[in-house]
Amino acid sequence: MSSADDQKRLSGEAAAELVENGMVVGLGTGSTAAWFVKALAARGLSDIRGVPTSEATANMARELGLPLAALDDVKTIDLTVDGADEIGPGLSLIKGGGAALLREKLVWEASTRCVVIADAAKKVDVLGKFPLPIEVVRFGHVHTGRRLADIAAEFDLPPPRLRQADRGMVVTDGGNLIYDMASGRIDEPAALATALKSVTGVVDHGLFLDLADEALVGTDQGVIHLR
Ligand code: 5RP
Repeated sequence: MSSADDQKRLSGEAAAELVENGMVVGLGTGSTAAWFVKALAARGLSDIRGVPTSEATANMARELGLPLAALDDVKTIDLTVDGADEIGPGLSLIKGGGAALLREKLVWEASTRCVVIADAAKKVDVLGKFPLPIEVVRFGHVHTGRRLADIAAEFDLPPPRLRQADRGMVVTDGGNLIYDMASGRIDEPAALATALKSVTGVVDHGLFLDLADEALVGTDQGVIHLR
């Protein structure tokens, strides 16, 4: 296992220890969150319910025998644990590398406590090396993409690109598309977040600001707890 995988495993396992019987738990998406889900299932807690942030996580949790609930079936979520593509100053995050940002943000916003888990390479001084994912509705997405390019130019960033996979456009669990805004650095994340949300065709974006309460970052020396 590579050092990064080991760090992801350590952070996922540490987060699984935060779960107590009786809790409703938000289950993140991605390779780090998968370690958390595995470690949580291994604890064999008898009275927890997981709210998955993607179909992939739901399928994995089902296979591991974790009881699930839909977001609409719970009033609040006690604890959500999820990965990130970048962890910047003040626990500002870029998420959505796995195209699950919309469900992730909905689950995070319904949660009392949000813990981000990651390997050490995810920690950055300035957000933006990882391209910022933006989820857009299919209808008129080329037009929306042009509006996003205008916003990008206002922030001195290059135009975002439609995310493609081997079989064509990436389609999210919600049936939407993803544009990725590669930037190098995002100096004004809050202003950019507001500008992106002002575009009607944008469903949401991967800037998670003021949402993470804590981070458990795996390193070769162990897990570092950031608040
Ligand atoms: C999915 C996400 C993931 O949490 C993010 O991409 C990190 O993934 P990984 O743990 O595989 O590095 O936001 O939409």
